[in-house]
Amino acid sequence: MPQRSPFDEVQREYFDLADEERFEFLTTGPGFSETEDALLAPFADEIQEPFLEVGCGEGGNLARLARCGRCVGVDLFLPKVRFAHANVNGPSFAAANGLALPFRDDTFQTVFIRDVLHHIDEPRGVLREAERVLRPGGQLLLIEPNGRNPIVKVQALVVAAEGKSREFNTEHIRELLSDFEVDEVATAHPFPLRRVCFHYRFGYPRLAEISWTRNLLTRVELFVSRFVPPRYWEHVTAKARKRSAPRRNAGNAGSAGGAGARAITPSHGPS
Ligand SMILES: C[S@@+](CC[C@H](N)C(=O)[O-])C[C@H]1O[C@@H](n2cnc3c(N)ncnc32)[C@H](O)[C@@H]1O
Repeated sequence: MPQRSPFDEVQREYFDLADEERFEFLTTGPGFSETEDALLAPFADEIQEPFLEVGCGEGGNLARLARCGRCVGVDLFLPKVRFAHANVNGPSFAAANGLALPFRDDTFQTVFIRDVLHHIDEPRGVLREAERVLRPGGQLLLIEPNGRNPIVKVQALVVAAEGKSREFNTEHIRELLSDFEVDEVATAHPFPLRRVCFHYRFGYPRLAEISWTRNLLTRVELFVSRFVPPRYWEHVTAKARKRSAPRRNAGNAGSAGGAGARAITPSHGPS
């Protein structure tokens, strides 16, 4: 078995179990789930089937984005995938490494990756795999933290597993996407006051149950947002396409049913 880097060890320790609280908070948390709706809405309109989320965690994104039977979520950790399977209706789930996806070349029309690349030693490897399993012209949708945002900076200092988020910003994402046809790299969440104050771990989510605090923070957030330059917003988002004629030979590291994949549902690749 290859030796894990200290970086990998930190990530595994942080992510190996299902975080039920996080799922509740992302999907139904008052005051917070609205900010998730706003973040994901522009992506929901873009999704075409078959659709894959790499590093789907507990399935919080798929709970919003998956509307079809031809959706698949994969995550490195089986407890997360099991939780997602039990709590999100519709998609198929499989435990698999984003660096060796268990799908054939040119399988998916859309691949979505959120908050995963900065948790991986070699993020280009995950993007290579995403490109391999995308159909020519298929779309990659990406969300990562913006290391220029002060909250992201603080979180990177305080939470070891988030340390690499400091390196992520619009330019870095553009570089990482050099093998794709990039349609858009943007930022989102100018002043994420509610996301901080109502956060299930770092904030005080009970505040969100009081409607006037929710309304007050929403207004402050909207007001201050007008003055924050986009380069400092909380998230970097990107939309890119697989080139119709790839510039390099696509690898075949994770051909269908590749080693290490554990399907939770009968099928782990839409036909
Ligand atoms: C911050 S969480 C984001 C989860 C989900 N994308 C979301 O937005 O809620 C990062 C996820 O990436 C997963 N992950 C980390 N390394 C991975 C890898 N090599 N292959 C697949 N998933 C991985 C973790 O298990 C974790 O669920």
